[in-house]
Amino acid sequence: MTNVKIVEVGPRDGLQNEKHTVALATKLELIERLAAAGLRTIEAGAFVSPKWVPQMADSAQVLAALDLNAGIDYPVLVPNDKGLDAALAAGVREIAVFGAASEAFSQKNINASIAESLQRFESVMKRALAAGIKVRGYVSCVLGCPYEGDIAPYKVAEVARALYGMGCYEISLGDTIGVGTPNKVTAMLDAVSEVVPVARLAGHFHDTYGMAIANIHTALQAGVRTFDSSVAGLGGCPYAKGASGNVATEDVVYLLHGLGYHTGVDLEQLADTAWFIAEALVREPGSKYAKARGLR
Ligand code: HMG
Ligand code: MG
Repeated sequence: MTNVKIVEVGPRDGLQNEKHTVALATKLELIERLAAAGLRTIEAGAFVSPKWVPQMADSAQVLAALDLNAGIDYPVLVPNDKGLDAALAAGVREIAVFGAASEAFSQKNINASIAESLQRFESVMKRALAAGIKVRGYVSCVLGCPYEGDIAPYKVAEVARALYGMGCYEISLGDTIGVGTPNKVTAMLDAVSEVVPVARLAGHFHDTYGMAIANIHTALQAGVRTFDSSVAGLGGCPYAKGASGNVATEDVVYLLHGLGYHTGVDLEQLADTAWFIAEALVREPGSKYAKARGLR
């Protein structure tokens, strides 16, 4: 059976957009439950400006409470050298830099042009790689931008190539506002896989229009074997108005197991976790699976 890797981004991408502060204890219980459900890569926080994203302000405390030697990867987002300093101090083993294929989004999200951001990342990458830290690279707005509209596949390929060339071990392609459809996924992956091997690509689909599962299926057919998702479909990006949550991990696992792929995730424990975080946030889980199964 072929393995598909799931990168659980709920504790970061999911919670970064919450209006009310999520208690540290709730975040830690969420991460603990995700790990118990079998997830082996859990994005645990972001060393970004707390003025820009207040919900990630306690990332150092989250990291301090986790066992970083338990065989689970807990990557964190790092936008610049200051973020890397904090990540190094927290003892992280993996970070992610995050760029965009859209100039306007890059400015709104990290206050830098694409070229400036790549310069920042170059410095972060050199130091991180020298310290033995793995670096993942995100490209946002790969299928559309909230400010610029359509994004040409070659623009995505340019940024992906730059990040891969700097030494990112994987490039996660973000449909930040969930506007993509399968034909666009195919065109974008065709362009990007000319410059980065498909085995080094990950799909990161938000589900605004309910297309994420169809887009994942299309990416699977193109050979992508790593997908980012968020338990209970939590999330959104504070700098992408109208963006809804990531595709729900439960729904991705249901699809993958149905197709015969192996994920190592226990779907029932994951659905319990979706209900746990949904209740903590006083709402229903955003996944079809958890809702269909119900709370137990
Ligand atoms: P800036 O305001 O241009 O930064 O923000 P600056 O260098 O001018 O510094 C201003 C202040 O911020 C200074 O503090 C710095 O020390 C501080 P002051 O002197 O005013 O007290 N500062 C920091 N503090 C903590 N950690 C840091 C840091 N850097 C500077 N790392 C900056 C530039 C990049 C910092 C800011 O724009 C930022 O933090 N942006 C992050 C936005 C973000 O996290 N967005 C969500 C994640 S991306 C996403 O969700 C998409 C993704 O899921 C994929 C997809 O869906 O497409 C990944
Ligand atoms: Mg995202």
